[in-house]
Amino acid sequence: MTFKCYECHPVDGVPGLPEPTVAAAEVIKLGGEVSKRRTYGELVAAIIHPSLARTVTSVVSNGEELEMPNFNKEMTVAQMLDLVAFVHPRYLRLKPLYYDDYYGP
Ligand code: HEC
Repeated sequence: MTFKCYECHPVDGVPGLPEPTVAAAEVIKLGGEVSKRRTYGELVAAIIHPSLARTVTSVVSNGEELEMPNFNKEMTVAQMLDLVAFVHPRYLRLKPLYYDDYYGP
């Protein structure tokens, strides 16, 4: 709550967070089914180095990119680790479409 991450990010499987305040097209859900599962390190990097560690293409609206803010001055390492530990298990790798056919039901 302290960092208002919810203004841009809903978290998959976590109801009851305040609604995002950015335009709908700019909302980036954390967790859920993704084509490539995020490693712990990628999520740490996404938080402490947002401009370098782009795992998600920033959304463009009105020709402007939405930047993930840098929280490094306000956030403690313990807070960052808590956030990553919370979000990491919520990322699920999408099953490839051919999976069931390939291996049988
Ligand atoms: C002003 C909007 C905004 C806020 C507030 C914000 N983020 Fe982000 N976040 C973004 C954008 C845009 C991206 C994707 C582009 C990038 O990484 O710069 C992103 C990407 C991420 C990713 C990578 C997502 C993925 O699936 O790989 C994580 C993790 C993340 N944010 C966590 C957080 C956390 C934790 C907070 C609160 C401490 C937070 N964000 C606050 C805009 C925001």
